[in-house]
Amino acid sequence: MSNLQSQTNWRHWLHRWDVQQSGYLPLREERFQVMLDALSLTMPESFTALDLACGPGAISQRLLQRFPAARCIAVDYDPVLLAIGQGSLGTMGNRLRWIEADLMQAGWIEILGESQVDAVLSTTALHWLPIDQLVRLYQQLGHLVRSGGIFLNGDHLYFSPHLETFKRLAKTIQTQQEEQAFVEGNQEDWQRWWQAIADEPALKALLEERQRRFAPRLTDNEPTLELHAAALREAGFRQVDTIWQRWDDRILMAVR
Ligand SMILES: C[S@@+](CC[C@H](N)C(=O)[O-])C[C@H]1O[C@@H](n2cnc3c(N)ncnc32)[C@H](O)[C@@H]1O
Repeated sequence: MSNLQSQTNWRHWLHRWDVQQSGYLPLREERFQVMLDALSLTMPESFTALDLACGPGAISQRLLQRFPAARCIAVDYDPVLLAIGQGSLGTMGNRLRWIEADLMQAGWIEILGESQVDAVLSTTALHWLPIDQLVRLYQQLGHLVRSGGIFLNGDHLYFSPHLETFKRLAKTIQTQQEEQAFVEGNQEDWQRWWQAIADEPALKALLEERQRRFAPRLTDNEPTLELHAAALREAGFRQVDTIWQRWDDRILMAVR
């Protein structure tokens, strides 16, 4: 960590991240809570969870606060968000391990240092992956999650193309929500948040590295609920269904 970075107020950036994300997802905290409720009813007291595409660690933070005997591994490829997570949350008493890895590289799983985990959780992230990569990732999770373990994905799991009215309503509601938060409420949106990061000298090198890694990637994949569910069943998850929903924002739970 550079001198400048050691003076950075990481907690401030983590808080700003949470506020920015909640502008897009007003029920973000409720969605986390339902995911953790599912763990409380399926996991033993002590268990290991993977926070997949963790960003600055929203799931890990909440999971480790709620389950004092759990351990978490947080994986992401964004050096800026990882630095914010590590700087603000640290290791949470040696229970949180951070891993920098690209989920699009097949070998990411080998650097985890675990052959199996009890649970995998992800939020607002897997739609970044092209569909073939998502399907391959689910195949890998089929091996990584132990028998009886669970996978929880909280994200926009899109309506199928033939459900035109559902798709239109979900998009309209999302647009209205964003207008309310970012135009009327003048909250900081994704673009302004990243602009503010660019104005932070301590993060300059990390931001350049982020741009090198992510700029060439497309982020507008819209995998449908059916595609997620079919790919998970194909990967060996026996029971797969939605446990929470607000339009196309859902939690999909899969039991291995
Ligand atoms: C919108 S953020 C969500 C972060 C966090 N889960 C949350 O809910 O606050 C999406 C995350 O997916 C990560 N991501 C996207 N593609 C990835 C990849 N190929 N490998 C690892 N992480 C990836 C991004 O770096 C980013 O942190």
